[in-house]
Amino acid sequence: MKAINQYFVLNNGVKIPKIGLGTWQVKDGDEAYHSVLMALENGYRHIDTAEGYQNEASVGRAIRDSKIKREEIFVTSKLESHIKTYEGAIEAFSKTLEALGFDYLDLFLIHAPWPWSEMGKDCKEGNVLAYKAMEDLYKQKKIRAIGISNFNKEDIDNILTHCEITPQVNQIAYFIGMDQKETIEHCRKHNITVEAYSPLGIGYLLTNETIIEMAKKYNVSPAQICIRFCLEKDTAPLPKSTHLDRIIMNKEVDFTIKPEDMAVLDTIKGDPRRWD
Ligand code: A2P
Repeated sequence: MKAINQYFVLNNGVKIPKIGLGTWQVKDGDEAYHSVLMALENGYRHIDTAEGYQNEASVGRAIRDSKIKREEIFVTSKLESHIKTYEGAIEAFSKTLEALGFDYLDLFLIHAPWPWSEMGKDCKEGNVLAYKAMEDLYKQKKIRAIGISNFNKEDIDNILTHCEITPQVNQIAYFIGMDQKETIEHCRKHNITVEAYSPLGIGYLLTNETIIEMAKKYNVSPAQICIRFCLEKDTAPLPKSTHLDRIIMNKEVDFTIKPEDMAVLDTIKGDPRRWD
């Protein structure tokens, strides 16, 4: 089966297509609308947005205009990182549904364990409150799966200890060079599916010499090596592009990277977002 049609089964039995279209930094309006529509017209069935991306309305409109049945598309959104109360989470979720124009969501994630403006702040109590709201929405069948994003081992343990439902997903920055070993091992231990955002290292990996050489060897593009790498590691990549040719390229990853070549890619270390 082609990679674009493959899925993971979450710990609650819900199926999630392995490759999703990311929409971070994709502008509301025409850009987000066309990016999502082009992806859906070319076989993508998994779209990732967030309240914080401020493009939910255009994403929802594109999904409706695609004329593909709503239940055939897996849609994720995220609770803004500064909302750390039960009531705040309930209210934000209803705004998300309204913006998207849906009556349910496939996956809702706590965007980060701390507000972006206060990275690293201890919000353990608030994360539990927000997550409990998501558990209630899940029980009311308004969300098919719930989870977290940018959570490390300690943040995950906080949820596992104080909440009832094991998160179905943890969405983290994951790409060649950014191995996230401890977090990924912890997710595996608890059967939490890992989604990889920025699989191209927001584009920085595409000029890496080792990756360029590997791409030549496999007769694919550097982007395809990066996306395939995430699949080989059993994570769900969420590449984003606003260009049709790249949207198509990013799903054409029906090859396997040999273990010895994966080992070479594993030698690339560090976060390329900070290489310059
Ligand atoms: P664009 O939207 O102009 O295509 P990531 O998914 O890791 O965050 O990377 C996204 C960045 O990489 C965007 O700037 C996007 O630009 C670019 N990009 C996405 N797909 C490709 C591709 N196949 N080849 C080159 N650049 C790409």
